[in-house]
Amino acid sequence: MKWFKIDNQFLEENQTIQKVKVNGKSFCLIKTDKKLFACATKCPHAGADISQGWLENEMIVCPLHRYRYHLENGRGATGQGDYLPVYDIEKRKDGYYIKLPYSWLKKLLNI
Ligand code: FES
Repeated sequence: MKWFKIDNQFLEENQTIQKVKVNGKSFCLIKTDKKLFACATKCPHAGADISQGWLENEMIVCPLHRYRYHLENGRGATGQGDYLPVYDIEKRKDGYYIKLPYSWLKKLLNI
């Protein structure tokens, strides 16, 4: 795992859900009144772009078949039995950082 800084330009944009790139990897950045969240862009159900979805009751809703996933842990709504990958975000003095999983680093570093 490694932390990467999120470009401040993304944080300043007035969008609740947006697709952003850090070191060549896309993910969804989600801004709520309380917190920032990050998750995968590809829905685990059938691969739709979940950044085109919307929020309902602390969950992100996929636009294709309306599956729902908890922002905190990625767990699918009752009966779905699936998970959306979510990523840790940390606030530091100079901005926000996202923790990328090792599988991403392997691709980035070509190892
Ligand atoms: S592709 Fe997201 S709910 Fe089906």
